Amino acid sequence: MYDKSLIDEITKRADIVTVVGSYLNLIKKGKIYVAICPFHDDSNPSLQVNPERNTFHCWVDGHAGNAISFVMQYEHLSFPEAVKKVAEIIGFDDPRLYQHEYKKKIADNLMPLYTCINDLNAYYEYALITDEGEAALNYLNKRHIDEAMIKKFHIGYALMDGDKTVKFLQSKGHSLKTIEDIGVAPNRGDSTHDNNQGRLVFAITDQSGQVVGFSARKFKEEDGPKYVNTPETPIFTKGNILYNFANAKESARVSQYIYVLEGFMDVIALDKIGITSAVALMGTALSKTHIAMLKKLNVEVRLCLDGDLPGQEAMMRIVPVLLANGLNVRIVNNLNSPKDPDEILQTSGEEALKKYLNNLLSPFDFTIGFYKNTKALEATNDKKKLIVRFMPLLLATKSQLEFDDYVYKLSDVTGFSAGAIKQAVVSARRKKLNEEENYTDDAVDPSSIISTFHPERKELRRLEKAEREILYHMLSHDDALKFYETTVEVFYTNLYREIANYLLDYHAQHQAIDVNGVISAIEMSEAVNKERLRKELDLLASEKTHLKYSEKLLNDCKSIIDQERKIIDRKQRIRNATIGKTEEEKARVIADTLKVDN
Ligand code: UTP
Ligand code: MN
Repeated sequence: MYDKSLIDEITKRADIVTVVGSYLNLIKKGKIYVAICPFHDDSNPSLQVNPERNTFHCWVDGHAGNAISFVMQYEHLSFPEAVKKVAEIIGFDDPRLYQHEYKKKIADNLMPLYTCINDLNAYYEYALITDEGEAALNYLNKRHIDEAMIKKFHIGYALMDGDKTVKFLQSKGHSLKTIEDIGVAPNRGDSTHDNNQGRLVFAITDQSGQVVGFSARKFKEEDGPKYVNTPETPIFTKGNILYNFANAKESARVSQYIYVLEGFMDVIALDKIGITSAVALMGTALSKTHIAMLKKLNVEVRLCLDGDLPGQEAMMRIVPVLLANGLNVRIVNNLNSPKDPDEILQTSGEEALKKYLNNLLSPFDFTIGFYKNTKALEATNDKKKLIVRFMPLLLATKSQLEFDDYVYKLSDVTGFSAGAIKQAVVSARRKKLNEEENYTDDAVDPSSIISTFHPERKELRRLEKAEREILYHMLSHDDALKFYETTVEVFYTNLYREIANYLLDYHAQHQAIDVNGVISAIEMSEAVNKERLRKELDLLASEKTHLKYSEKLLNDCKSIIDQERKIIDRKQRIRNATIGKTEEEKARVIADTLKVDN
């Protein structure tokens, strides 16, 4: 990473109008500029560029930030790459820009493996353009994989003479041990030769785009499996790999979604039609690492495994896991489609594939559709389980229309009457309420129950509002910052607390707050929710509805915070104290707690 002072200087000098204007046509409109937003399908200019604050903001899709964030998103660059690019645009030159290499630090013992596999990859790529490679190249042509794709996805060919591959690597100075360690030429008794010989080879890369293994496809009529994969090696763990992740993560930042597919040929098919945020599972298992990788992107996951029964069943397993991990997921509706995306593109063309990929189901509709189509829901017990499974969704649904829609579909697939399902929801709701020990805030009568499933909601709203008000004034009043540090100490709302910490840090270093500079600090940090932080900060800075700053205002907010925190704490205490107690005992604990507090 660059020096902090260098980033500060570039951030300060990077005039947003100059930088965005070098990519888009800006139209002056009063004090600001507007443009057609490049991050969504825009027809009315909804991207606003504010020279005064030196930031940009799209009112439709929420993309926002400073000059560096704009270049990152527009060009799909990492932060350091974007810094360099911005420096170029504004004509700022500094030797510190060239001092650093951004290569991931690699353990010394693995270094020989990486150099060896890079040499092997180059050898495969080269073999594709030799005479012997022509048949493989023809096969690629037949599948409409052009030169650019071959380069981008590191596709090559492994010569028939597998001994030669090994000899080549030895001639490059790699030991036989290293060659065996990269998994490409296992020692079979007295000979060592290339496992992939005579096959088309697809490089598999890790999160940073470094080649770590291969998948080799047969392309002639011959025995053996369709694909031969590199076995597990010190640098290649199948469960850690999502094919094409290094490319896809950059695109996903802009598209805000990522397709998760079954085969890597399908990833290549999507790339052909311009959908570059797609990855493939190497097999249909989804590992913890995969989930963590997807979660970090913070975008919608669009799951699209094959439409056959094993594919559907795999999705039935995967969807709940994704949901349980807090991922936003939809499923490509392929219940009746036996073809994979690549086959759809070949037989029906680009528009058909686009249409197919955009036909997305909610997890609920997908699950219902699965049971309807496969008729897998036979036993009454299974049917009941399905209702139980969707109970949290039914309980949380606020819209009557949506609720009726769910009930209707569940009734359709289970055969239970809509009335019976609604009755089950009523019972579950009652049970839930009993479990939550709710009572109104000012209630003296502990038995009165408020009819909401989120007892904390009301307080949270007041609490959040008060915290937000203080946070807003922290942007322009040093006294508000001091007030936060000494009197509030810490916000209850995670997002506000994080932003407040950035503000304090920034102020400690610069003795003043510059929203733009704080945005750069966020980009440079290790935060996983940079996008949210950036959007929230930008939104806050542009709001005009806040109250006029005064010391009294801060104190008023602080007393609201105190009040609401007290109520939340009290509820927490009661909850902890009443677990497993009888109704009578519960009532007593609640009454005692109220007595002590008041
Ligand atoms: P598919 O058989 O669906 O392959 O396997 P595909 O993507 O459609 O490939 P083409 O279009 O026939 O060339 C899906 C994934 O399962 C793994 C591979 O990772 C493949 O991408 N697989 C499949 C193997 O590892 N070995 C095999 O023999 C077959
Ligand atoms: Mn295929």
